[in-house]
Amino acid sequence: MLIDIADVFTADEVDEMRTRLLAEPWVDGKVTAGQRSARDKFNRQLNEDSALGVLFGQRILARLSDNALFMSAALPKRIYPPLFNRYSGGEAFGFHIDNAIRGIKGVRERVRTDLSATLFLTDPQTYDGGELVIRDTFGERSVKLPAGHLVLYPGTSVHKVNPVTRGERVAAFFWIESLVREDSQRSLLLDMDVAIQRLSAQQADDESLLQLSGVYHNLLRRWSDV
Ligand code: NI
Repeated sequence: MLIDIADVFTADEVDEMRTRLLAEPWVDGKVTAGQRSARDKFNRQLNEDSALGVLFGQRILARLSDNALFMSAALPKRIYPPLFNRYSGGEAFGFHIDNAIRGIKGVRERVRTDLSATLFLTDPQTYDGGELVIRDTFGERSVKLPAGHLVLYPGTSVHKVNPVTRGERVAAFFWIESLVREDSQRSLLLDMDVAIQRLSAQQADDESLLQLSGVYHNLLRRWSDV
């Protein structure tokens, strides 16, 4: 399941974030890659110790915690603090699969990467290439969203970033451990939640809504691990 979450930040907010981030120290993106994927990874990442990166990461997560679609689609249990990357001059990241478990730097917590998220921080008109290509059961999907928009995709999927041949692509990326490990189950819960919200906005029959919400919560109870 791929979910586009629009307008997490406005264009102005993104411009400010990106300009300030670009003035910070950046390092070779291979620092957070596994051995296998390091061979195919050509980009730069914001130094993980950057105080500004930590601050903006918190700002992103705070914004998302108020986003109904994000919360409903991801059902987050733990979130790996956002990292930032940039690609230019032909840089790319070949097909790979993300590590299943990631330790959070400096703390003992670990995150199972059920979902991956990319928040686009550059206007797509200003760069060529840089599409996030995700392989799922329906084939390959190419994702290049407006600045301030986020894509959520299953951590189980093989994906790549196409070479950036003009301009620069800046993004935030992070992983989410969900209360519900299986993508197919999260997808059913999201469909049901969206339908319940819609019916409730239409002031549908209370008794049916109560019954449906009961089914939603009982499925969540059955499928979640807290
Ligand atoms: Ni990846």
